[in-house]
Amino acid sequence: MNRTIALAGILSAALIGGSFAADPTVDRQNIMKNVGAATGVGAKIAKGEMEFDTATAQLVFNTLNAAANGYGYLFPAGSETGNDSEASPKIWEDMAGFEAAVAKFAADTNVKVADLDGFRAAFGAATQNCGSCHESYRVKKQ
Ligand code: HEC
Repeated sequence: MNRTIALAGILSAALIGGSFAADPTVDRQNIMKNVGAATGVGAKIAKGEMEFDTATAQLVFNTLNAAANGYGYLFPAGSETGNDSEASPKIWEDMAGFEAAVAKFAADTNVKVADLDGFRAAFGAATQNCGSCHESYRVKKQ
């Protein structure tokens, strides 16, 4: 994937994520799609499949961090189901634990990228959050 296409992918996903619907299940799924797109680009950079440049690598972290900030607000009472939500009931049973997981994701994605080695280390740490949160708080439907 070349850099322009990758960037266009992140930006269009960001625009989708930014157009907030009234339904929080839609918003949180769009935001996570956005996170998935940015993570895909980050993984290519980390593996050397895409050339490292500071601006693109920083955009990956900015996208993840923007998603993390505010993600916790998208689970109000009454939004447990609908729109094929994969949110686990555990979120509402253990809101404090879920909010702590969101806060950790926000902290681990609050990164200023300087070079490829630093990017790799920070990206590795940030993406540990995906599996650990999904394991506890997401129920995969497909
Ligand atoms: C703090 C918890 C948390 C973290 C951290 C997190 N996720 Fe998620 N993710 C969720 C939840 C909850 C859902 C299901 C939301 C729903 O369906 O309502 C989800 C859903 C998704 C989806 C499916 C989106 C859709 O509906 O099509 C993708 C893709 C995804 N996450 C990728 C990631 C990646 C990649 C990371 C790490 C960079 C990550 N997530 C980190 C909680 C988290």
